[in-house]
Amino acid sequence: MKFEGNNILSVSQFDRESIAKILQISAQMAPYASRQKRCHVLNGAILSNLFFEPSTRTRVSFGTAFNLLGGFVRETVGQENSSLSKGESLFDTAQVISGYSDVIAMRHPQMHSVEQFAQGSTVPVINGGDGANEHPTQALLDLFTIQSEMMHFNKGLDNLNIVLMGDLKHGRTVHSLSKLLSLYNNVKVTMVSPTALQMPDSVISSLSDAGHEVIITDTMAGNLSADVIYQTRIQQERFASKDEADLYRGHFSLNKDVYQKYCQENTVIMHPLPRDSRPEANELDIDLNDLDNLAIFRQAQNGVLVRMALFALTLGVENQLTQYEKPVNWYTNKNV
Ligand code: CP
Repeated sequence: MKFEGNNILSVSQFDRESIAKILQISAQMAPYASRQKRCHVLNGAILSNLFFEPSTRTRVSFGTAFNLLGGFVRETVGQENSSLSKGESLFDTAQVISGYSDVIAMRHPQMHSVEQFAQGSTVPVINGGDGANEHPTQALLDLFTIQSEMMHFNKGLDNLNIVLMGDLKHGRTVHSLSKLLSLYNNVKVTMVSPTALQMPDSVISSLSDAGHEVIITDTMAGNLSADVIYQTRIQQERFASKDEADLYRGHFSLNKDVYQKYCQENTVIMHPLPRDSRPEANELDIDLNDLDNLAIFRQAQNGVLVRMALFALTLGVENQLTQYEKPVNWYTNKNV
C-alpha cells in the first residue's frame, strides 16, 4: 500500500505488509513520545482536527502526535461550532479546510461521513471514527498493543485467542479490530454480548470466511479463557433512547472476581476507553486497576505512537525522522 498522500478511511485498505510497516514506524516514535528526544520533521505543517462527536483520547492524541513531530494543530470541536450547523455540506467543508491544512483528522457521528468528506478534500483525511462504522486508527493501536503485550509471553499476532465483549453491534472499535485480525493466522475470536447487540454479520464473515474460529455467546462463564479480553462500553449514543441502552447496561461487568473465575492467569485486559464507571454500567471495575495485565492505559498511550506513524507515512517523512532530531532540554519524567 502507498501511504504518501493517501487517506486512511477503513481497515479494509490494509494488508499484513502495510500493517507491519505502520507498527514498525510506530515503535520508532517511542523515544519522541517519551521525551528522550524530540523530532521536528513536520515543522510548519498544519493538521486540522475536526471532531463533530465527543472524544478525549482520539482528538487529543491526534493533536499530541502532530505536535510531537513539530507540526501545528487547528481544532474544530462540535458541529454546533462549525458551519455544518448552517447547512454547509461535508464536501464544501472539505474543500475549504483542506485549503488551510496539510492533513485532516475527522470524527463524525454518521456512518461513511468521513469517506464522503474525503471526496472533497485535497489533502489526506484520517478517519477518527464514523458513527457505528469504523475506527481504523483505534484498531491499529489495538493491534500494536496486542503485539507488545503478547511479546511478554513470546507470542505474536498469529495463533491469538481473543474475547470481544459488550456492545458488539454498535462498537466500531471491535468492528475494525475484527477485520484486521482476520489477516492473521489461526485466530480464535469469542464474541460475548447480549443477543440483541451481537456483532454484525459482515464482521463475523470477515473472520469466518478467512478460516478463523468464531464463537458467539451471551454467557461469560466458560468463555473468557483467552490471551486477551477486549471489553467495550454500551454505546448509548447509538441507541434510540437512554431507556433502551439501560436494558443492556451492567450485564457483562468484568471485575476481579469474574477475572479470577473465568480468565487465564495472564489474560491481558483491553478496552478502547472511555469505560463507563457509573454503578449501573461498570463494565470494567476499578478493582482491576492493580493488575499488571490491565493494559488499558498503555493502550491509550500507544495511540500517540500509532498516530505519529500515520502522519509520518501519509506525509511521506517516515525516513527523515532521525535527521530532524533534537535533545529535550526541559525536565521530564515520562516513560513509554
Ligand atoms: N477510544 C476512543 O475513541 O476514545 P475517545 O472517544 O475518547 O476518543
